[in-house]
Amino acid sequence: MQIQQILVSRFEQALKKLGFEDAPVPVAKANRPGFGEYQFNGAMALAKKAKQNPREIAQKILDTVELDDIASNLEVAGPGFINIHLDASWLSQQVTQALAQDNLGVAPSMHKQTVVVDYSAPNLAKEMHVGHLRSTIIGDAVVKCLERLGHKVIRQNHMGDWGTQFGMLLAHLNDKLKQNEVAETALSDLEDFYREAKVRFDEEEGFADIAREYVVKLQGGDEKCLSLWQSFIDISISHSEEVYEKLGVSLGRQDVMGESAYNDDLAPVISDLKAQDIAQEDAGAQVVFLPELADKNGKPAVYIVQKSGGGYLYATTDLAAIRYRSKQLKADRTLIFTDARQALHFKQTEIVARKAGFLGDNESYQHCPFGMMLGKDNKPFKTRTGGTIKLVDLLEEAIERAEALILKRLPDISAASLQETKTKLGIGAVKYADLSKNRTTDYVFDWDSMLSFEGNTAPYIQYAYTRTQSVFRKAGIQETEVNGSIIIEHSDEKALALHLLQFQDALEIVAKEATPHILCAYLYELATLFSRFYENCPILKAEVSAEQKSTRLQLNALMAKTMQTGLEILGIQTMQAM
Ligand code: ARG
Repeated sequence: MQIQQILVSRFEQALKKLGFEDAPVPVAKANRPGFGEYQFNGAMALAKKAKQNPREIAQKILDTVELDDIASNLEVAGPGFINIHLDASWLSQQVTQALAQDNLGVAPSMHKQTVVVDYSAPNLAKEMHVGHLRSTIIGDAVVKCLERLGHKVIRQNHMGDWGTQFGMLLAHLNDKLKQNEVAETALSDLEDFYREAKVRFDEEEGFADIAREYVVKLQGGDEKCLSLWQSFIDISISHSEEVYEKLGVSLGRQDVMGESAYNDDLAPVISDLKAQDIAQEDAGAQVVFLPELADKNGKPAVYIVQKSGGGYLYATTDLAAIRYRSKQLKADRTLIFTDARQALHFKQTEIVARKAGFLGDNESYQHCPFGMMLGKDNKPFKTRTGGTIKLVDLLEEAIERAEALILKRLPDISAASLQETKTKLGIGAVKYADLSKNRTTDYVFDWDSMLSFEGNTAPYIQYAYTRTQSVFRKAGIQETEVNGSIIIEHSDEKALALHLLQFQDALEIVAKEATPHILCAYLYELATLFSRFYENCPILKAEVSAEQKSTRLQLNALMAKTMQTGLEILGIQTMQAM
């Protein structure tokens, strides 16, 4: 349910009746207490156009709009705003309905789409590092949000599984296997393995030549070489899967569509671009000139699609991917999550794809860039010695830190609960700290603030959820059993109910803008409104009337469900106590 949408359509009808066809219908949440919950802000612009008094126009609209069922009071304020005070009994009804529905009253989006989401996409030559953390969890949250809203989502894990670096890696692997090592052991730490191979490549006589031969053989489809490559890829993917599992991310093998999957499409892409006169030769390479992205002297940008030796590039693969996603997967919309440094690449790729007809006119292609994760020194997040931080290690550390924190709060906790809680808390804290930041900006990774029980953090939100559960335990009833009438009276009940009913509004923004931090902000406010309600509206005390108790238990239940669903979308788990 979308309150905003409902209000907009009612005002739209009113404006039509008054002869203002096609006028914009700005309805916003009110931001000052005492001014109602929503505001219609369109009267001033209409008055200006019609050369009339804005307050008079506002009054006419107020008299015409049909909101008797929803609003208890409408008033013209200031230069011509219309303040909308929602009716408590309407809110009560809506809460009852939301509780009765499995999906919390979240209705499928009006325009259902097929959405391809390209995220995570680690390079398989190395371990996953912190850069892939952002892509993986932001992408997964957006995927889950889109699915909630009824879209058809196709996950595409565009893993880096091809390229010249594999020559060196396979040559090194082959030597290890000859020495009777098994591939799983040799590749148990990809970072070490890569480093060893690189040292040999740079220093060992003859090794670089062998590595180059491997590249040629691999590209030529040599069977032995391909099977070596396949086992490398398989092992590396299983490393990623370990991380996905720890993170509670929904990517599986079936979603892997690595760069190599497009190998056979690359030559046809180039010939197609040539046939359409989009690509042309330049110093032996095939390039596309892009006057759209000219520099300040008017010199067009150059986008290389094939190297002078005939080799293909990252760009060629992305063109093939666009074509596949449009023609085979029938994507209406594509979202790609990588760090901001790739922004130009995707802009250029989109322009070329549109010229070539690889992307339909009505299909959107959105690169969703994100900022860097920084250390406390405001520099890119690294180990003390300046190396890249492996994601597995980071997550292990999070769990250890969470354990220490829990033991401080609950020294008598059972071993089994500790095991469960430390993982949920530790992983939740890392994910939430990332997801709650505006996607496009850099952020500082700070253990202390992410594990704090105060502020916009996972512990704060998870703790709010545990309070709802302790209410049910104390009341001796199951969350699913609460029912009865809802009569909203107290202002803290009203504020909580209203916010609960704005859940879908938040999800729609996340889906449109690919910004999970909007959902985090929503949940944070929910937790805050809930704790105000919890302090000021006793539920189980003796003096509370049966009606109040029933109302508050139901608000508690809707709060629990909404919080849990919201966290589920973010891929963060809840617990019964902490
Ligand atoms: N493998 C790339 C990286 O680690 C990300 C790939 C993103 N997707 C794409 N279609 N190019 O930077």
